[in-house]
Amino acid sequence: MTDQDLLQRAVAAADAAYAPYSNFHVGAALLLRNGEIVDGVNVENASYPLGICAERAALARAARLGVRPGDVEALAVTASPCGGCRQWMLEFKLDRVVFMHEGEVLTRTPEELLPDSFEL
Ligand code: THU
Repeated sequence: MTDQDLLQRAVAAADAAYAPYSNFHVGAALLLRNGEIVDGVNVENASYPLGICAERAALARAARLGVRPGDVEALAVTASPCGGCRQWMLEFKLDRVVFMHEGEVLTRTPEELLPDSFEL
């Protein structure tokens, strides 16, 4: 599974987004170290702040499967990750994040996306 393949999985997942308020469909796909893929989509709510981003939806699904920090090799997402999702990516100690930004595909580490960050 190349990073480009992983990004294609995220693109495919975006079709299932529930985003009736923004109409902005986002898909995310995680590559676990065991080779499995877990994807997620943004899920919005009429009470706007209660919506969840695609990246966090994917990580929450993965956590249910027993995934813990260090178990995820890469995350691909069809949007530039928001600040809150960057904090989640740092928590799960991903190796790299692949994302679409202004027509380009960028690859960054969580530390590059959120330098000098909060950790307990
Ligand atoms: N969104 C994501 O799913 N991931 C991001 O990193 C950026 C924003 C979603 C949240 C909301 O449902 C929609 O995009 C518009 O902000």
